[in-house]
Amino acid sequence: PVIRREDYTPFGWLVPQTGMRFELGVENTRVTATLKVERNPEAKATQELRLNGDGLKPDAVSVDGGASDDWTMDGSDLVLTLPGTSHEITIATTLNPSANTTLMGLYASNGMLCTQCEAEGFRRITFFPDRPDVLSTYTVRMEGPKDQFPILLCNGNNTASGDGDDGIHWAEWHDPWPKPSYLFALVAGDLVANSDTFTTMIGRVVDLNVWVRAEDLPRTDHAVESLKKSMKWDEETFGREYDLDLYNIVAVSDFNMGAMENKGLNVFNTKYVLADKDTATDADFDGVEGVIAHEYFHNWSGNRITCRDWFQLSLKEGFTVLRDQLFSQDMQGEAVKRIEDVRILRAAQFPEDAGPLAHPIRPDSFREISNFYTATVYNKGAEVIRMMRSMAGPERFRAGTDLYFDRHDGEAATCEDFIRAIEDGAGLELSQFRRWYRQAGTPRVAVSQELKDGGVVLTLKQTVPPTPGQDVKAAMPIPLRVAVHCRETGAIGEEQLIVLKLDEETFNLPLAGPVPVVSINRGFTAPVIIDRDLDRDDLVFLAASDDDSFARYEAMQELALKHLVAAASGDLDEAGRAAGKTAICDAMRAIISDADLDDSMRAELMTLPSETYLFEAMATGTRKADPGAIHNEREQLKTAIGVTLKRELEGLYARTADTGYDDPAGRGARKVKTIIAGLFAASDPERAAIMAARQFDAADNMTDRQGALMVLCGLATPERDARLKAFYDRYQDNDLVIDKWFTLQALSLHPDVIRQVRELAQHPDFTMKNPNRVRSLYMAFAGNPQGFHAADGSGYRMIADVILALDPINPQTAARFVPSLGRWRRIESVRAGLMKAELERISKAEGLSRDTFEQVTRSLDG
Ligand code: ARG
Ligand code: ZN
Repeated sequence: PVIRREDYTPFGWLVPQTGMRFELGVENTRVTATLKVERNPEAKATQELRLNGDGLKPDAVSVDGGASDDWTMDGSDLVLTLPGTSHEITIATTLNPSANTTLMGLYASNGMLCTQCEAEGFRRITFFPDRPDVLSTYTVRMEGPKDQFPILLCNGNNTASGDGDDGIHWAEWHDPWPKPSYLFALVAGDLVANSDTFTTMIGRVVDLNVWVRAEDLPRTDHAVESLKKSMKWDEETFGREYDLDLYNIVAVSDFNMGAMENKGLNVFNTKYVLADKDTATDADFDGVEGVIAHEYFHNWSGNRITCRDWFQLSLKEGFTVLRDQLFSQDMQGEAVKRIEDVRILRAAQFPEDAGPLAHPIRPDSFREISNFYTATVYNKGAEVIRMMRSMAGPERFRAGTDLYFDRHDGEAATCEDFIRAIEDGAGLELSQFRRWYRQAGTPRVAVSQELKDGGVVLTLKQTVPPTPGQDVKAAMPIPLRVAVHCRETGAIGEEQLIVLKLDEETFNLPLAGPVPVVSINRGFTAPVIIDRDLDRDDLVFLAASDDDSFARYEAMQELALKHLVAAASGDLDEAGRAAGKTAICDAMRAIISDADLDDSMRAELMTLPSETYLFEAMATGTRKADPGAIHNEREQLKTAIGVTLKRELEGLYARTADTGYDDPAGRGARKVKTIIAGLFAASDPERAAIMAARQFDAADNMTDRQGALMVLCGLATPERDARLKAFYDRYQDNDLVIDKWFTLQALSLHPDVIRQVRELAQHPDFTMKNPNRVRSLYMAFAGNPQGFHAADGSGYRMIADVILALDPINPQTAARFVPSLGRWRRIESVRAGLMKAELERISKAEGLSRDTFEQVTRSLDG
């Protein structure tokens, strides 16, 4: 059935208190839940109490202390008829965690037990009104064999514990903060902690623990440091203080997503906890810091204020992503972090917004909510709130968020509540802005300029493309930071914020000099596509001289993108092709020699647009993307850069090669080195192989090692196999690094990549049961344009086979593979036909999960 936002009604009952008893066993866990229920005065009076279940059957039901048979099963739900206005319901259920491969509800991972309840996993544990607007105070008793589960954790505070008979021990936990069921969590296992404390701004001492398996303990310091930094930052930046005496984080190796913000007991994918120099890249370190921060920030944006219903998911996710982005900007540097975030948006969210799965950040309907944990809800959601912040300025925005936290603390709120709090607190008028919540699709802004009366007249025209279910769109307010520089004098114009509100509007801007160059959407103030036709010379000027780092990056991207799309579309003759390459090489040369740039930013400027982003740009209007042509042109451009700038690149490589790991310039140096090795791989593969092998052999850290191996993986040389084997042998006991080993091969530019992936699937270390491993091989492959878009369709077939094989095991993870095939409409017709045929094959399979079924149908219909 389709669930609609407009159908929301409050639940008929309140559940002020929930008591639970868990008798834990890996194969057999008995759950006894006691719910105090009262009629909800704000809802229509009803005698019916519907408790959601999923795959459960009640062993026993009692009402007010006596066995009851005033209940029935309606599908998976348990429905009671209750005569009075307040009752106590007790229900017992039995679970088999070891048989739960969906990783939703209670499941076993490496001998430990853990839970994942968001969005609708709690109903796999016990019967309950499993919806985010039913808040309850939980008291939980856990019992289990002490040798198997020495550590027993739940939300809130540990109020009592002790030993029972027969090697059983127990612990009681009480969470004083009322919460929805999706924030419930429990963990039992053989774990050790890296412990620390944090003293909050009012002097509350909080015990911090990061729980892992004993062998992982040496890799937890970065997680602990990240947590302390997050706690401090949220006090300073948003005035938010932690509200319990205990904060636990547990790392588990079987997890569907990144992590989960359960109150006082976050459960994390090991990938976002464990990091050290020898096993984690610089990007992995940042991932840990960012996700720890994200889950911590949810304590206010998500837990203290939660969502009324799942259509409001972006209320907590969009806002929390913005908060974690701002945090990481402060930790790592604003310019590079902003570029990384925009790159993610363009690689993941723009294609979603342009395809059959497009939806507004606040969706109107769904079948399976798990399918809406998307880049749109998360990342575009963050961009939308960031625009409010840009319009208000940081101080007024803070006044808005203060009012929001104050006004809605303890509530299950809506996106509308958030918008109104920002309006009232920040003094913005957001009536038209609300369209960003309602309308899907990436707006396009066409820019044209004219010299007039000693100034520049900028004409901006916006269009929001039709998306499934939304044919006609209304104009949205689009805040754009702009400046007009002068190409002749090099004068930098003053920046201002303009807001495009109508379909078409003109803005008068002052001139900085005789040859104006407009710098627009600086800092990427709005998540839109700018259509402008700048001269190559203007782009080269902006790439070299703009005072906004993002605008410099953007100009480089545009320069390469224009050339590559034109070349792939067959719009360039030989002279045009040569001129394009020359301009890009000239701009690149200027970047390589710019002494004022730090290497991290230099690496960003040297990064060519991704193939996915190029497909998006090529597939505009009636033109379709041609993955084969894009790939060839991009590789040829890399070759040209490698050949033309050989000397410069060698010089830069040599300079960066001996920067030490702990040198503050080390990170930037490592980024630059791997980019250069990648360019040489395209221009002089033999040399690149030697260079990369040397880098691999000399590496004292995972960033250099992985970068070198990535380059080697694409080359059919002896160096490749030897290093792959060395890497495997060295790390065979470390799952996260073996994931990298799979990924590097699945992502590689090797001509035989499909065969290699097929063989890797037969490797003893490969399993469909572990999502990290599945993603390490197949998500990576689905993101390898050359392999996935192989002209004969074998890449598509492989991913369709994965979806079919994985769906019965883990539907949530299976469904996440569907969007890659769902892009067929924007791809040239031969490949489009092959992709569509695979979707049709999946759709005909019997017993598809609701997750996969929904994604496949939308992909075919939309
Ligand atoms: N709320 C979590 C986060 O973003 C992710 C929830 C996981 N959801 C899921 N359906 N597994 O931090
Ligand atoms: Zn989140």
